[in-house]
Amino acid sequence: MKIAIGADHAGFELKELVSQFIRETGHELIDMGTGSSCAVDYPDYAEAVAKAVSDGKVERGILICGTGIGMSIVANKFKNIRAALCNDLFTAKMSRLHNDANILCMGARVIGKGLALEIVKTWLDTPFEGERHLRRIEKINTIERKVLDK
Ligand code: RB5
Repeated sequence: MKIAIGADHAGFELKELVSQFIRETGHELIDMGTGSSCAVDYPDYAEAVAKAVSDGKVERGILICGTGIGMSIVANKFKNIRAALCNDLFTAKMSRLHNDANILCMGARVIGKGLALEIVKTWLDTPFEGERHLRRIEKINTIERKVLDK
């Protein structure tokens, strides 16, 4: 898969670890920053990754900030984005099975490195279940069109 990743200063260190893990598993990764632990604003990185997913330049995105909340708020403003804040394994799995989440958000100040890598692995490996969940995704898309076309 082609995956974009982004983080703010709070998520920088975890982003480096997750990036290495993703590259080792054979996925193509585009790192959209930030490049250090110097303070930056999370909306800039959420925008870059969400736009890449929304425009179809990459299949999936991963965003990391302190809590994952700011990243998910911004990412979900974009068309075709289903960003899921997953700081546990069950949520990560369900966000793929039922919600076909295309952006994973995590909080580097909430979870440890080992759990974060397990969440990433689960999230990348779990397929969308489809069926009744597809109908619900279609309803999300209808709402999105109504809201954005207003
Ligand atoms: C940065 O201090 C922090 O606010 C940010 O990383 C994130 O947690 C926002 O949701």
